[in-house]
Formats: sequence, structure tokens, C-alpha cells
Amino acid sequence: MKNIVLIGFMGVGKGSVARELIKHSDYIAIDTDDIIESMQNRKIKEIFKTDGEAYFRKIENDVAKWLEKSVRDTLISTGGGFYKVKNLKKIGTIVLLDSSFEEILARIHAHPNAEKKLKKRPLLSDLEQAKALYEQRRPEYLKLADIVVDVTHKSALECSQEILKKVKKYD
Ligand code: S3P
Repeated sequence: MKNIVLIGFMGVGKGSVARELIKHSDYIAIDTDDIIESMQNRKIKEIFKTDGEAYFRKIENDVAKWLEKSVRDTLISTGGGFYKVKNLKKIGTIVLLDSSFEEILARIHAHPNAEKKLKKRPLLSDLEQAKALYEQRRPEYLKLADIVVDVTHKSALECSQEILKKVKKYD
């Protein structure tokens, strides 16, 4: 099995889809933000605050090199900006979770931990800027994706089933 690399904007549901997908397949799951937090022994928010975004992006590139070299048969969920790493397409089949910005905000706000979800994402602190970032990134996500899953009105389980059906062709 080729790795599956889940990309998409903050809050689109990469984590929830990953959790459903591993329940119904033989993939194991890892998350690039979790790897970075354990490598650094601190939260993403802290890394942004102390060392800045450029430093965080450098670590993402280091993680990407390791993934390409050493990780197989794995579902890799990524932070919303991870798609910019140089070797993304060499890591696995790229699956984009796609949604409108409004739907993403609605999802975050509907979550019981909404406040926590907003707090831990420095790039969501200003909504105008977050929307501009979404608009800049969406065409770039679409260009890189092998598979696009529109998550609108779909449960995490439904998205995961759609992914499992579509990735077969890429193995
Ligand atoms: C980021 C998204 C975050 C995290 C960091 C930067 C981004 O991950 O990697 O705050 O640039 O979009 P999620 O997409 O899991 O929120």
C-alpha cells in the first residue's frame, strides 16, 4: 500500500477522517503536527510564538524528508501548510479534503472544543487573514491533489470510505 497523505485547510476535518479511516483499513496513522510537537517537546503555538513560522516550515520539510525515506503503508495527516514541502508528491497518494471557508468555520464552531481548536491554531486568530490564506491556498491544494474529496454534508466515516475506494487505483 502506498502512503495516503491527507492535505487540506485547518479545521477541514483531517484528524476525524484519519481516525475513521484507520478503523476500517490496515493503514496505521501518523500526524505531522504531532510528530513536530514530540520532536520539539512543545506545542505548535509555542514554536510559532518563539521561533516564528519560517522555522516551523523548516521542520515540516525535515519531517517530509523522513516520511519519504522511511514511512510506508501509512495514513499521514498533515498540517494545513504542509503541502508546501518540496517532496510532497514523493511521499504518497495526495488526498485533498476540500470545503468552502464558510463550511470550515461552521465545523469548527459546531465542535464541543471549538475554543481550544481556535486557540491552538495561530493562523486562525484573524479571520480576514485566514480567509485570504484559504483563497490563496485552495488552487494550490487542488493542483497537487491526486484525489479530491468534497467533505460538505458528509460524515468523517463517509469521507473515509470514499478515500478507501478511490486510493485503490493508485496502489
Ligand atoms: C497550519 C495548520 C496547522 C498547524 C500550524 C500551521 C497552517 O495544522 O500545522 O498551525 O499553516 O495551515 P491543522 O491544519 O491541523 O490545523
